[in-house]
Amino acid sequence: MNIVTTPDSVLQIATAAMARTPDERLRTVMAALTRHLHAFVQEVRLSEDEFEQALEFIVGVGQATGEKKNEVVLAADLLGVSTLVALLNNQDPQGGESPAALLGPFWRANAPLCTAGESIARSKTPGVPLDVRGVVRDTEGRPLAGAIVDAWQASPVGLYENQDPEQDDMNLRGRFETDAEGRYHFRTVRPAGYPVPTDGPCGVLLRAQQRHPNRPAHLHFMVSKPGHKVLISQVFADDDENLESDPVFGVTRRLIGCFEPQGDGQQATLQYDFVLEPGEMKFPRPPIP
Ligand code: BEZ
Ligand code: FE
Repeated sequence: MNIVTTPDSVLQIATAAMARTPDERLRTVMAALTRHLHAFVQEVRLSEDEFEQALEFIVGVGQATGEKKNEVVLAADLLGVSTLVALLNNQDPQGGESPAALLGPFWRANAPLCTAGESIARSKTPGVPLDVRGVVRDTEGRPLAGAIVDAWQASPVGLYENQDPEQDDMNLRGRFETDAEGRYHFRTVRPAGYPVPTDGPCGVLLRAQQRHPNRPAHLHFMVSKPGHKVLISQVFADDDENLESDPVFGVTRRLIGCFEPQGDGQQATLQYDFVLEPGEMKFPRPPIP
């Protein structure tokens, strides 16, 4: 009889109840998730108080998600799950394709389409001017004309435009089309490191774990062209003190860019190339509108 007797029997019976799932992938994923969740609860001998706290955390994460912030994405990032998924799905490049990184909670679709060389610092954005250039190629080394390089970043005070009433809508966001030689070029200001949002349940967790919230300075990129897999990536400033303690574990060696100071250090340049692999051009769902 499928009636619960011991703690262990709950897993057997729950798994049997899910075994009818017609979708094979859903059946496999849910069976593994349930098995691991039960093993976790057994391993830590989860108390009733802890269970209640965990449920409240999940409710709080949902309630803290809205127009300005996606706390659900943030929670996945802080657990290292977003980076794990990005690495698992983009590892062992066969054709030298560029490394991927987590999307983060602040990408917005439909950033302004800009002309080559334009600045994405639209409102008055103080900071060291940064000139960013590179080439987009396919895995055969051929330059990709007409690829879209979507770039976004926090301001030098460490806030994305949608978090900061001082910045214009879409400040520090822009999309650039590559030219016939696959080149892209834009101007901006050097990004600063910044804290992930700590005003919600994720902040409570970080403080309880004595983890600092500061991401190393970086630019986000999403590079796309029909017939190619969309590349989501980040490029980190090579002189940042938090490269080895990113709270969302996003830094890998190949994602560290060379931010070259120019002249007396009043300006900087970054040269970073991308390689797209063949595949379906599928964009992620924006974490915020
Ligand atoms: C970001 O880089 O935008 C980001 C990534 C993960 C969590 C919070 C912010
Ligand atoms: Fe960021």
